[in-house]
Order: sequence, then structure tokens, then C-alpha cells
Amino acid sequence: MPKVTFLPMDRTVEAVAGSTLLEVAHRHEVLLEGACEGALACATCHVIVAPEWYDRLEAPTEEEEDLLDTAFGLTATSRLGCQIVLTEKLDGLRVTVPDYSVNMRVGTAHACGALSFPMLVEKKG
Ligand code: FES
Repeated sequence: MPKVTFLPMDRTVEAVAGSTLLEVAHRHEVLLEGACEGALACATCHVIVAPEWYDRLEAPTEEEEDLLDTAFGLTATSRLGCQIVLTEKLDGLRVTVPDYSVNMRVGTAHACGALSFPMLVEKKG
């Protein structure tokens, strides 16, 4: 079983191969939201992958990259937890759960990329 460490809580858990990072977080009560339950519609499952692990992940789809652009505190190694499928080759993966997430489902996104409030910025923990 691959092990995953969630930071900053420094919590290492075992994952069932084939599970998504979001599923593993929820199974182990790690505070990672996932408002759309993996439907690729919210970005509340945003995580920051440790740089040494980022290139070992499957590349994000264009749809994931577009949604990542709406994530609060986006970094060069940001990913959506619901899109990371854990395999044995990811044993030892380390990800940081950001302090905040933006829940786009309560706000309005326009085709031009502009956002209308209300948009919920949620502090985790
Ligand atoms: S849970 Fe909504 S995009 Fe991942």
C-alpha cells in the first residue's frame, strides 16, 4: 500500500492503490474539502505537491489545469487531489494542504474568466 504524507499536519497514512488522494484524505479524516466530490468542478481539493514528487505524477488534463487557475494560492506544483490516483510508484508522496480554498460553486465564473462575488474563501482547520 502506498503511503502518503499530508502537511503541514505531518500525517502519514496508507492508501489503497487506485484511490484518489481526495478519497484517501477523507478516509483518514484529513481536512481536504472536495466540494464537488471529484467532479472537477470546484478546486477545493487543491493540494501542493512536494517538488520532488510533482514530475512523478500523471500530467494534469487541460480541464484540471483550467480549474487549478481558480485555486487560492496556486503554485508551480499545485494539483487537484481528486485527480491524483495513487499507485505503488507514488509510495512516499508528500503533499501540503493549503490553509485556504476557494469554493467556486457558490460564486459565478464568467466565460471571459472574470469572477463575481459571492465566492466563498474558506479557511481550513
Ligand atoms: S473535489 Fe472538486 S475539483 Fe476536486
